[in-house]
This record gives sequence, C-alpha cells and structure tokens, in this order.
Amino acid sequence: MSLFNKLDQAKIPNHVAMIMDGNGRWAKSKGMPRVYGHREGVKRVRELTEVCAKIGVKYLTLYAFSTENWSRPAYEVNALMTLLVSTIDKELKTLMKNNVKLETIGDIEKLPKKSYESLLKGKSLTKDNDRMTLVLALNYSGRWDIVNAVKRIKEDENLTEINADIFSSYLNTASYPDPELLIRTSGELRLSNYLLWELAYSELYFTETKWPDFKEENFYKALLEYQNRDRRFGGINEE
Ligand code: IPE
Ligand code: IPE
Ligand code: MG
Repeated sequence: MSLFNKLDQAKIPNHVAMIMDGNGRWAKSKGMPRVYGHREGVKRVRELTEVCAKIGVKYLTLYAFSTENWSRPAYEVNALMTLLVSTIDKELKTLMKNNVKLETIGDIEKLPKKSYESLLKGKSLTKDNDRMTLVLALNYSGRWDIVNAVKRIKEDENLTEINADIFSSYLNTASYPDPELLIRTSGELRLSNYLLWELAYSELYFTETKWPDFKEENFYKALLEYQNRDRRFGGINEE
C-alpha cells in the first residue's frame, strides 16, 4: 500500500523546500560520471513536481545551483547549465498541462545567456498558471539574498520603518510563505547556504537516500514524518 493513503490531507504543507543532493556520489557508486547523476536527478524533479501538484503542495522550491557551485570544474558547471536549458524547453508543455507556474530565486542574470533566456521564456509562458508554483533556486544563496535585501533597503528612501515582515518583502522569496518543511537528500546534515532566513521555523528532514533515488514514496515518508512533528514555534502545545 502506498504511504500516500496514510497522509492526513488536511496537513499537507503549503511550501516544501528541497536540497537535491547526492547526484555525483550516486553516479560514482555506479561507476558513471557525475553528470549521469544530474541527468537522472532531472527525472526526479519532474516526478516530484507532478506529485506536489497532485497532492496540493502550493510551492516547491528546489536548490538547483548555489552561488558556491561555480567553484566546480567548468565542464560540470557547463553540463548543469545545458541540462537546465534542455529540461525547461522539454518540460514547458507539461508545466502548462499541469497548470504549474515556473519562478526563480537567485541572480539568474549571471547565468549563461542561453540558460537565462530559456528561464525568462519559461517564466513568462507559465506566469498565469495557478495550481502550483515551482521555484528554482539558481545562482542562489541565503546570504546573497540577505545582503541583496539590505542593499535594496538602503536605496529605498521612502522606507521609514523596518521589521521582520518588511525585511522579508525585500527578499527574492517575498511572495512565498516560509517553507513548513525542508528536505535534504544524501545524508549531509547542513543547509549549505539555503533559505537561511525563511527556514527559521521549518521542520528539517534529512535522508540518506541520494537525490536520483528519491521517488514518490520517499517523499510521502518525509511528509508523514513532518505530519507527526510537534510544531511549537516557541510556545506550548497543550494536549
Ligand atoms: C546535487 O548533487 C546537485 C547540485 C549541486 C547541482 P551534487 O552534484 O552535489 O552531488 P554530490 O553531493 O557531489 O554527490
Ligand atoms: C547544495 O549542495 C547545493 C545544491 C543542491 C544545488 P552542495 O553539494 O553544493 O553542498 P555542499 O557542498 O555539500 O555543502
Ligand atoms: Mg552535493
């Protein structure tokens, strides 16, 4: 029986954030080049997007390329960028069919021109879709976004007050609710500069499963654990 049947439909998170990690090690364990893992990983992105749309997750934010990932060998960076373009071009039809809006966070203007243009095209074509929003974090890091927000606040002469809500409105993630759940695959127990502000009260779920092996049932398992967590936000939950 699928774990799906055990889920409490009233407690599906609105926003799931994902650190898709372990592609390289997954490929290496099969005696294949790292890029093979990235290609397999794309299939999981497609599946997870469909599953989220199906079960009513409203926002899915995927860490696809960090500001630190530029330090990888050029051939791997190039392969990731090429994969990005071919995937978007191929998936646009499905995104339209499933009524999914594509958005990005991060400094995408610094991506190679082709990647940048295909992202713009994908975003503009899907902008009126409203079943679910798929957010790709590209050339993104939490500290980059926070520093960027501070710069914009400094330039805003009309701003007279600042508080957490106002600060949030200057982040790239301004239009999304904070994620209730963060999932990181591949056994690494760190945030790697992801959504540092937004994850303040998110439930964190770590699994040894590497991203290319993370399928529908693995996701339901994470959701089930999330649904059994006691979220207190600093308060007390009286029984
Ligand atoms: C995650 O897998 C994908 C990206 C960072 C783009 P990795 O490429 O980090 O794979 P590992 O962690 O080295 O196995
Ligand atoms: C985080 O994974 C970034 C993405 C998944 C895009 P990394 O593989 O880059 O993180 P570290 O280097 O293990 O911290
Ligand atoms: Mg990694």
